Amino acid sequence: MRRTFAVSTARLRIMMEAFRGEMRRGLNGKPSSLRMLPAYVDRPTGRERGTFLALDLGGTNVRVLQVDLPGDGRLPVCAEDRFVLSRDKVTADGSVLFGALARFIGRFLRERRLSGRLPLGFTFSFPLRQASIAGGELIAWTKGWTAEGVVGRDVAALLNRALAAERISGVRVVSLNNDTTGTLMARAYLDPDCDAGCILGTGTNICYRERTSEIRKPVGPHGRDHMIINMESGNFNAVLPRNRFDVLLDRSSANPGLQAEEKMVSGKYLGELARLAVVELCGRGRLFGGRLPEIFSRREAFGSERLSEIEKDDSASADGVREFLWDWGARPAAAGDARLLRDVVRAVSGRAARLAAATLGATVTKNDPALEAKHSIAVDGSVFHKYPGFKARMEETLRELFGGRGSRIALAPMRDGSGLGAAVIAAVAAESAKTGGKKPGAGW
Ligand code: GLC
Repeated sequence: MRRTFAVSTARLRIMMEAFRGEMRRGLNGKPSSLRMLPAYVDRPTGRERGTFLALDLGGTNVRVLQVDLPGDGRLPVCAEDRFVLSRDKVTADGSVLFGALARFIGRFLRERRLSGRLPLGFTFSFPLRQASIAGGELIAWTKGWTAEGVVGRDVAALLNRALAAERISGVRVVSLNNDTTGTLMARAYLDPDCDAGCILGTGTNICYRERTSEIRKPVGPHGRDHMIINMESGNFNAVLPRNRFDVLLDRSSANPGLQAEEKMVSGKYLGELARLAVVELCGRGRLFGGRLPEIFSRREAFGSERLSEIEKDDSASADGVREFLWDWGARPAAAGDARLLRDVVRAVSGRAARLAAATLGATVTKNDPALEAKHSIAVDGSVFHKYPGFKARMEETLRELFGGRGSRIALAPMRDGSGLGAAVIAAVAAESAKTGGKKPGAGW
């Protein structure tokens, strides 16, 4: 299995070259697996001020935040609430989803006794076609979401309508952004070297700061020298080292043929990849005496959290892994089974970390091929924060690819970046409305 999931340095270099090519093609409006979506926002100055609400939607955990930006580079969260979206909300009709979001915001306001006008920044962690900072259409669902009637619609307008239906008149969506853009903006509020943002969680994606002169495809009016570009890098599919398990996983996914890189790297899929490899090994009689334990027998039953638990045990005996297997009902598990399972898991996650590092390396070297400047990449997401050794393996890969200069690419952990960043973006939108002669939230 180690060989099946191995990716050589040479292969990573070819991939990086292809990635930069896809970036250019996407910016030029040519067919590309990278969507290269302008976000109609540039880095903040750090002096933006005001009180904003942020809604962070992208996984099953939804968050509402109230953020008071003091204008001195701090990012204090005044209040925060989470709720869990049940599976039916993300797969039912869009009105059910947006209704649930509006009611959740209503409860947040009531519980906090908040009133008056509150501009809201909306982080919507899916591909968005935007023509301004204020709204954008969903291009396609990813990460297994399928709510109907949302693709092709302006999701900021859908939320505003749902808020109105719930008679929440004080809150209005003033800005819309992807979670990668939110993460970049939250970090950049504090760190002027930050020029890229990355999510390594349920899904994966990268955004970065680009000169607008490099964007040759038609874009709406923006008046900026630079803009953040949401690449939707999880959809990258050129020269990827895909193996038979990647093909199997894709076939049974909600979006076959799409998000090829995401399906090799992100938390939604790592467990399933490992499970498919286990099924094959067991079928060949090399694991569990050929009798597949229940936990490996159903699609997506073996989640990525279990992979990180397995990797927490780095003892030679893998006794910890045996105990987990016992708890998960995989009995009896021989020491050899535990060790082989851990090897499979290491191979899957090791490949993911290498691919993630290479795509970030490619992003940064598009505009700075010799890595002359320092680049700080804001990274958020459960895989990055919680998976044992993931960040270290990414850093090792960057050194392998760029030698000493690899350390000029700093992977900067940015927790809660997607929520905080939405508030920063709402503040930037409010500032530009002021300088544009309009009141923030004009027309409200
Ligand atoms: C998926 C989405 C993308 C998002 C990423 C991380 O790839 O398409 O928009 O940024 O997940 O949440």
